[in-house]
Amino acid sequence: MPKLMQAAVITHYKQTSPEIKSVPIPTLQPTDVLVKIKAASLNPIDLKTMAGGLRPLLTYDMPLIIGSDFSGEIVAIGSRVTQFQVGDAIYGRPRKTRIGSFAEYLAIDAQEIALKPSNLSYEEAAAVPLVGLTSYQALHDILKLHPGQKVLIQAGAGGIGTLAIQLAKRLGATVATTTSAANVDFVRSLGAEQIIDYHTQNFADLLTNYDAVFDTLGGHALEQAFSIVKPGGQIVSISGLPDRQFAQEYGLPRWKQALFGVVTHRLTRLQKQTDTTYHFLFMWPSGAELATLARLIEAQELRPIIDRTFPFHELDQALTTLKTGHARGKIVLSLT
Ligand SMILES: NC(=O)c1ccc[n+]([C@@H]2O[C@H](COP(=O)([O-])OP(=O)(O)OC[C@H]3O[C@@H](n4cnc5c(N)ncnc54)[C@H](OP(=O)(O)O)[C@@H]3O)[C@@H](O)[C@H]2O)c1
Repeated sequence: MPKLMQAAVITHYKQTSPEIKSVPIPTLQPTDVLVKIKAASLNPIDLKTMAGGLRPLLTYDMPLIIGSDFSGEIVAIGSRVTQFQVGDAIYGRPRKTRIGSFAEYLAIDAQEIALKPSNLSYEEAAAVPLVGLTSYQALHDILKLHPGQKVLIQAGAGGIGTLAIQLAKRLGATVATTTSAANVDFVRSLGAEQIIDYHTQNFADLLTNYDAVFDTLGGHALEQAFSIVKPGGQIVSISGLPDRQFAQEYGLPRWKQALFGVVTHRLTRLQKQTDTTYHFLFMWPSGAELATLARLIEAQELRPIIDRTFPFHELDQALTTLKTGHARGKIVLSLT
């Protein structure tokens, strides 16, 4: 077993790009597995992490290996791991304090992985964990969508949107989504029924009486979402501001809870005015939910969409593509 590995490292926030360099292979905790990474996917949170944009919620020690999800093969297991063995093909999303999948090896708690869907390549599997868990938690765990409900999923062509549309359809919901004209047929093929070209139309002028909105945009689009949801309906956002309730549940200090309460006062007012509920979702790692997603993928009820795959040494080009904000599905790094 080598002692060093290649990894994409930053030494400070706002670094122009990560440097791929030799660093020690991580050591294992008793409940960890060591994974030889085969592929990893890029997520907007990687850019936010590098920019220091998560600091109100989370600070990192430097140097930091970036990368938020992966697929790979287990090469060693901790003394207390019983449910996996060396040689297992797995995929996962590490907890936010232990990221680092843009590397040859990653140590991760066994609770945060699942066996890789057997019908996917490593590249395809790496496209699932972060966006799959986020979409599942928004639509299944929080919104609890059920047949006959109407949901708007913003940005249907993106990493989140492409999986969320499929999951919402599987739950029996009717799906509206926003996209640009070039992606209309594509999002229809995933199951979206009402498709809004956001360059020429405003969803708030077209949709009414919705049960739920899965907001991936934040800002003005999030505020407008309240106008299309019926009384008793729900809005879950992954790009809006965290509110006081989230800050409490996340265990932030009281002064931050109060601060988030102040900055989200408009959202609080909109909830009262429209008799709706707002949730901010900061997705959580879950091997159990990844196993559920693997079953759906193997049953061909869900499939990841990959825009483009880059070799590891082209990480900079991959990050530049992500930054455009117009990937169709996921951007993946191959480490094989
Ligand atoms: N809180 C959490 O736990 C969490 C988890 C995951 C993601 N997120 C956040 O969720 C957001 C979406 O993530 P993602 O992985 O889906 O990003 P992404 O894949 O980079 O999104 C790209 C897609 O967004 C579409 N898009 C861009 N501007 C749009 C607009 N104004 N209206 C509708 N569609 C638009 C583009 O479609 P066109 O090319 O057709 O414009 C493109 O397909 C990011 O901000 C990310 O940080 C948060």
